[in-house]
Amino acid sequence: MPNAIPFLDLVTPHMELEQELVDVFRQGLHTAGFVGGPMVEEFEKAFATFCDASHCAAVSSGTDALRFALMAAGIQPGDVVLTVPNTFIATTEAISQACAIPEFVDIDEKTYNMSVDKLQQYLEKQCTLDQSGKPISMRSGRPVTAILPVHLYGQMADMDSILELAGKYGLIVIEDACQAHGAEYFSKKHNRWMKAGSIGRAAAFSFYPGKNLGACGEGGAVTTNDAALAGTVKMLRDHGQVKKYYHDMEGYNGRLDTIQAGLLHVKLPHLAGWNAQRRDRAAGYNQTLASNKAVSLPFEPAWSHAVYHLYVIRTNDREGMMNHLKSVGIGTGIHYPIPLHLQKAYASLNYRGGDFPVTERVASEIVSLPMFPQLTEQQQSRVVEEILAFTSKPHPG
Ligand SMILES: Cc1ncc(COP(=O)(O)O)c(C=O)c1O
Repeated sequence: MPNAIPFLDLVTPHMELEQELVDVFRQGLHTAGFVGGPMVEEFEKAFATFCDASHCAAVSSGTDALRFALMAAGIQPGDVVLTVPNTFIATTEAISQACAIPEFVDIDEKTYNMSVDKLQQYLEKQCTLDQSGKPISMRSGRPVTAILPVHLYGQMADMDSILELAGKYGLIVIEDACQAHGAEYFSKKHNRWMKAGSIGRAAAFSFYPGKNLGACGEGGAVTTNDAALAGTVKMLRDHGQVKKYYHDMEGYNGRLDTIQAGLLHVKLPHLAGWNAQRRDRAAGYNQTLASNKAVSLPFEPAWSHAVYHLYVIRTNDREGMMNHLKSVGIGTGIHYPIPLHLQKAYASLNYRGGDFPVTERVASEIVSLPMFPQLTEQQQSRVVEEILAFTSKPHPG
């Protein structure tokens, strides 16, 4: 369709950097250095610096980053890890793959991230304390050892409050920063803005192509200020070895490709600018949709600098709006239509509809609008015009 507006344009940023990206590939071919080596190490250093973290271990995906971070932080088989039902399944897959058990707390209705009140209620009302004061889940009878908040849509969870509760109950906090490269949180405790990936015991990032920093394939990273944890992640990603063929433990094949590291290193200097463009587009949507009573706009608390991996609105007639936008060539998405506790994959966890009412309500109303750094003002105006055209029409019910 002429004038179609994609939900996400991945072609333009790659064409803008075509020569530099091709040079990386050529360098890879000329050296045949496809696994490990200086290209990976240089990218790790640069990404750690970007995140204000001391260490970065590049791995093969965000899912592996989460799994390795949990394992390296000492999560034991059968431990409970708390997270939210409003996230991509990789969050809970990683928990299960680390042989732990995911349990959920509901989200905050405004930020769509982990509700601190619900987390507190869970720890106070749905756990008993063992002799050492550690919480034991009444649901599973297993010890709760970690919290995995997700910085969803590019906005950080309320980390001061989560860390305070974690401190009180002796829990490890791992950030799922897979959608939040460059997002910032104003920590009252530290009296400064802090980057995603620098606050928890460790954090996981995804470089899936559509992410704010995306590879030309799969990739991920763990960032941390804990040297020992970073070392363990580096062993886990590489068959448990520090030195070739000397295996201190069993690990995985979870390394980041050298060429992907090189490609990511070319893109990294552009990330702050791309994030600024995303914030600018978000401000554009906010301004032009503000007076429309049929939609709720994203909420950014004063302590948050979100990087708008996704720009998500809510509306009662979500299907109608998406169909209308589709009919005029505008792409949209739903992140995510079915909360994790209601997915078939988690039937064995025995959650029911109604267990997490905020997540369930939100999941039925959210729609993600076109959002990418190269979205032009003209394109954005058209998206807004079509939303206004749709919401001003009378609707049944
Ligand atoms: C919130 C969240 N967690 C984890 C992941 C997993 O990342 P990957 O696809 O790189 O394994 C993703 C992205 O897909 C994500 O959005």
